[in-house]
Amino acid sequence: MFLLNISSYRKYLFIIFLFSIFIYYNLLFQRKNSNIINQTSNSIRILYVIRTSSYFYQKRLIYLLQTWISLVNQDVFFVTDILLPNISQNHMILTKQICGPDAHSMNILCCKTAHDFIIFHRYISEYDWFCHFDDDQYVNVNNLKKYLSTLDFNQPYYIGRASWSNTIKRSKEPYPYSFWFATLGAGICLSKRTIYLLKPYTQSVSQFIDGCINENYHDDIYLGFLLNGYLNITLTKNNHFHSHLEKFFYHNKQIFLRTFTNEITFGFNIPDRYPYYLPQLDKSYLDPYRIRTLHCLLYITQIKECETKIRQHIFNSTI
Ligand SMILES: *[C@@H]1O[C@H](CO)[C@@H](O)[C@H](O)[C@H]1NC(C)=O
Ligand SMILES: *[C@@H]1O[C@H](CO)[C@@H](O)[C@H](O)[C@H]1NC(C)=O
Ligand SMILES: *[C@@H]1O[C@H](CO)[C@@H](O)[C@H](O)[C@H]1NC(C)=O
Repeated sequence: MFLLNISSYRKYLFIIFLFSIFIYYNLLFQRKNSNIINQTSNSIRILYVIRTSSYFYQKRLIYLLQTWISLVNQDVFFVTDILLPNISQNHMILTKQICGPDAHSMNILCCKTAHDFIIFHRYISEYDWFCHFDDDQYVNVNNLKKYLSTLDFNQPYYIGRASWSNTIKRSKEPYPYSFWFATLGAGICLSKRTIYLLKPYTQSVSQFIDGCINENYHDDIYLGFLLNGYLNITLTKNNHFHSHLEKFFYHNKQIFLRTFTNEITFGFNIPDRYPYYLPQLDKSYLDPYRIRTLHCLLYITQIKECETKIRQHIFNSTI
């Protein structure tokens, strides 16, 4: 009898959990359907560049467009091979002509990343922070703003998650030292001052690509090299940035559920790099990475639709 009921018992515990967060947030926050971003941010301005491609529009990007990107639409720019539907044309920079078909070769990645800087330099006077994310990432924009607000964008900053557990070894001139670099796959943020200092090294796409080739580094290592080697800007590590490469991030459900509200970025990958234990809140929508569910849990009382879905899930769910 007891054994037979174990799985429904688990479900029951999970529903209780959802219900507790629901109550918790209700008590904690005043109900507000607007002002989602304004609640925690005051004045800093963040520009978001998303690296994507037409191939991943349906597979990945639409889930981001429907969730976190919708909160900061005006400040998001896309580096993509060709035009994408439902995105304003002046928020896209197209790379197919210059970079060629998408692939993970050093040349192409460097070519795409070089386009980030075209956007960063174009908008330098309008923003304070310049961040890069991939199309397999959820960004908690409130937490990002909260964190960046504690730092001075007039100082040089290079922020992200260290890609490896150690520095990259280097003994070659012009900078014969080891250095830390951040994986672009977890997202990185650069201050206005850093963008300004990087200008001489990122003026054109070909300059950046040639730099990668000369040093034989992929885009994120090359960027780390420019920052450390030429500008003496070291990585500020932030472990609340997460990439799809982290094996254990989602493995422990209890820990994940206790801590996910503190994280800044989440990376996703099939088969097990996503919170697979969260339910799909809406049967009529596919939510393969549970991005919509995550979004709703984070904005439970602030987005009416989320509150409704979670209520429905709690009360209509058949245990
Ligand atoms: C946030 O505040 C700014 C000015 O303070 C205002 O223009 C903007 O509409 C507000 N955003 C939301 C979502 O309320
Ligand atoms: C564009 O957005 C509309 C409305 O959200 C949606 O119905 C349509 O399917 C989207 N187009 C594509 C190609 O995803
Ligand atoms: C690099 O920066 C560190 C502090 O971050 C400073 O101590 C050091 O002198 C700087 N090195 C050079 C060559 O400017």
